[in-house]
Amino acid sequence: MQHLTTMASLEPVHTAALLALAEQIKSEWRNGDRLPLLAGHVLTQVFEKPSLRTRVSFEAAMQQLGGSSIFLSAADAGLNGRESVADVARVLGGYSDVIVLRTFRQDLIDEFARFASCPVVNGLSDDDHPCQALTDLFTMREACGPLEGLTLAYVGDGNNVARSLAIACAHLGVAFRIAAPEGYQLDPKLFAEIQARIPAADLAAVDDPHAAVKGANVVYTDVWASMGQESEKDVRAKAFKAYQVNASLMKTAGKQAKFMHCLPARRGLEVTDDVMESPQSIVFQQAENRMHVAKAVLVRLIQGVEPGTRVVSPDHRRVAGT
Ligand code: CP
Ligand code: NVA
Repeated sequence: MQHLTTMASLEPVHTAALLALAEQIKSEWRNGDRLPLLAGHVLTQVFEKPSLRTRVSFEAAMQQLGGSSIFLSAADAGLNGRESVADVARVLGGYSDVIVLRTFRQDLIDEFARFASCPVVNGLSDDDHPCQALTDLFTMREACGPLEGLTLAYVGDGNNVARSLAIACAHLGVAFRIAAPEGYQLDPKLFAEIQARIPAADLAAVDDPHAAVKGANVVYTDVWASMGQESEKDVRAKAFKAYQVNASLMKTAGKQAKFMHCLPARRGLEVTDDVMESPQSIVFQQAENRMHVAKAVLVRLIQGVEPGTRVVSPDHRRVAGT
């Protein structure tokens, strides 16, 4: 694992190892152990879109691990045509131990990974949100127990988050159900690609949100209009009206179901206030976990270890296993 450019670029063994490392790092942090695993290392983040969770969770993760971080807007980095993407990637790679990018086009991230001399992480593109999906499965395991055989029901837009979640679920033996209106479904090619790599993957697209969530362990939604789709928001609000996660849908899901959302949430559109604030909602645990998973991603990529090997703090005080 050299980069984290897409969820599909990970093997299931990498996904499982990242979750195990995040669990250990979180538990040590909770016990007051703030190990300087990345002392002297530099994270550079370049974003084309706004961010609260991704930007701050990576900055906090890097600082808590003893490293430092730099943030640039895409325009400040010169990605608005000031110089070529390849040149920016090569220059930033020379100053950084890892680069996190948030972009519109996925191929900007792929190009960075080709030219930068350090690992490159996708902090969201129009196609993918792998750090989010890793966090979501990590949070689901904390809330629901061992993942194998559980079900995640996604209700809403077949977008970047849904795509990464479908793959992450397949990696970890979680059944993935999606209910999306016509015209906003996941590309059926995605399920075929996942199934070709993981024949046991349990994936289904259903029309009726109530049928999708019945008995699910997690009900998940995301915004109806993603960043870059603001001009479509009224059309989408109409198309998605019957796909709101509200008290009636959570009743169909059942008492066992947790509610998850990558945030930011548009309360009153894809989810109601009462669901966000209900005891079934684990959205803020999920948001905090972005930082614990970011740490695992940073340690894994910067230290360059393979799953199953040991990660050692620079002062050899303690050993963290993957
Ligand atoms: N979930 C998420 O990626 O949030 P931000 O857009 O605030 O980073
Ligand atoms: N699908 C959303 C996710 C935000 C974290 C977007 O791309 O805007």
